[in-house]
Amino acid sequence: MAASLTVVVLAAGLGTRMKSRKAKVLHRAGGRALIEQVLSAAARLTPADRIFAVVGHQSAVVRDLLAPAGIGFIEQAEQKGTGHALMVGRSVLEKLGGWLLVLYGDCPLITADTLNRLVAQQTASPAAATVITTRLDDPTGYGRVIKDDRGRVRAIVEQKAATPEQQAVREINSGIYCFRSDLLWKHIGEIVPENPAREYYLTDIVAIFNHHGHAVEAMLIDDPSEVLGINNRVELAEVDRIFRERAVRRLMLEGVTIEKPETVTIDPQVRIGADTVVEPFAQILGNTEIGEDCRIGACSVVSDSRLGNRVEVGAFTLIGSSHVENDARIGPYARLRFDNQVESGAHIGNFVELKKTRIRKGAKAMHLAYLGDSDIGEEVNVGAGTITCNFDGVKKHRTQIGNGAFVGSNSTLVAPVQIGAGSYVAAGSVITDAVPPDGLGVGRARQVNKEGWARKRRERQASASAE
Ligand code: UD1
Ligand code: MG
Repeated sequence: MAASLTVVVLAAGLGTRMKSRKAKVLHRAGGRALIEQVLSAAARLTPADRIFAVVGHQSAVVRDLLAPAGIGFIEQAEQKGTGHALMVGRSVLEKLGGWLLVLYGDCPLITADTLNRLVAQQTASPAAATVITTRLDDPTGYGRVIKDDRGRVRAIVEQKAATPEQQAVREINSGIYCFRSDLLWKHIGEIVPENPAREYYLTDIVAIFNHHGHAVEAMLIDDPSEVLGINNRVELAEVDRIFRERAVRRLMLEGVTIEKPETVTIDPQVRIGADTVVEPFAQILGNTEIGEDCRIGACSVVSDSRLGNRVEVGAFTLIGSSHVENDARIGPYARLRFDNQVESGAHIGNFVELKKTRIRKGAKAMHLAYLGDSDIGEEVNVGAGTITCNFDGVKKHRTQIGNGAFVGSNSTLVAPVQIGAGSYVAAGSVITDAVPPDGLGVGRARQVNKEGWARKRRERQASASAE
C-alpha cells in the first residue's frame, strides 16, 4: 500500500490574509516553517521520492529550505486556485498512479497517525476520495461539507459561495484528501473557475465525482486542533501555542517536570531526560538535547545545544550552540554565545560571557568575565573581571590557560597569549607575554604609600579657607 501512495503538499499561495511579504508556508509555528511541519508528517507515510510540494510564491526560498528533505517540486507560477495547483502537477503525478494524498501547506498540526487512518479508510473503500472533516463551533472561512442522508459527501461549498443554510453547517473541509489517482486525473479538467474569486477550486471535484456516480466519503475527526488552517497571524499564534502544548505534554509524560507549563516555550524536536526540572518562562529551542536530573532556570534560553546529566542552569542564562557536560553549573545571568564546550564539573557564574571557548574539567569563572577564543585548563580559577582581549581590530587571537592556573581578578589577557600550567597571574595585571608554568605574572605598577599625605592635605585646605 505505502509503495503506491504519493503525497502532494500545496504551498504556492502568498497567503494574502497574512499581510506579509513572506510566503505563508515560510512563517513559523512550533519552531519550524509551516511547510516543514506538514512535510515531517508526510515523510512518515511514504518515501521522499513520492512526496511533492507545489511551490510558487518565493519558490526559490521554499526550495532551498526543503532541499535537504529530497522531495520533488512542482512550480505553479501563477496561483489560480487549489484545483489549478494540482493541474500543473499532472505530468509528474499522474504516471505515479495509486493513491494521491493532498495536503495544504497551511495546515501544519496534522499528525502522521491521522493521515495513516485516512489512507487506510480510503484504500479499503470503493469511494473515489475520502476527505478529513471536523466540526467547529465557528466554521467561518472554511469550506462547508454538504452530506446526503447516508453520510456521504455531496459537495464542499466555500464560504463565499455558501447559502445562509449552508453557512449554518458546522462540519468543515480540512483540505486533506486521499484520492483514487485515476479518477482524479480523469475528472480534474472539469473544474471551472466559476466563482467570485475566479479560481479553480479543488473542492469542486467532490460535486463532479458525485455527478459521475462516484462516492466521496468523510473521515470525521473529533479533535479539531489537528486541522486548523492558518490564514492570518491570529491563527498562526494559536497553532504555535498548540504545538508547544503538545511538546510540553509529551515531555511531562516522559518524566520531565515543567513548572507553569503554559509559560515555557519548547520546540517539538527538543529532547529532555527524566527528572529534569524546567522552571517558568524557560525557552528550549531548536535541536537541543538535555540529559537527566538537570535544572533549567527561570527565563533561560537554551538553543541548539547539548547538555549532559545533572547540569544546573541558573535563571536568566543564555546558551546557544554549545556543549555542556555532566555536573556543570552555568549562571544565573551567564551567556554562552556559540561554539563553547563546558566540561564536567566546571562552573560559569553570573555575568560571564563565553564565545568559542573550552572550559576544561572543574575550571571556574564565577563572576563578570569575558572569555573568547580561549582554552581554559582543568581546575583553573578565573577571577572576577578577567577579560581576554581576543580582537586586535583586524583578527581574532587565542588565549590558552594551562591546568591549575590561577588568574587574579581584573586581569586583562592580551591575546595571543599563554598562561602556563600551575602559574599565577597577579590581580589587576595586563598580560601581554606568556607566563611560564608554575611562575607568577605581574603586569601592573607597584603600589606607593605616602605616610600622612591625607592629613597634610586636610590641614592645607583648612588654613586656606580660614584666610
Ligand atoms: C481551503 C479550502 C477550504 C478548506 C480550507 C482548509 C479550497 C478551494 N478551499 O480554503 O474548503 O476549508 O482550505 O484550511 O481548496 N495554494 C496553492 N496554489 C493556489 C492556491 C492555494 O498552492 O493557487 C495553497 C496555499 O499555499 C495553501 C493551500 O493551498 O497552502 C490552501 O489555500 P488557501 O488559499 O489558504 O485556501 P483556504 O481559503 O484556506
Ligand atoms: Mg487556508
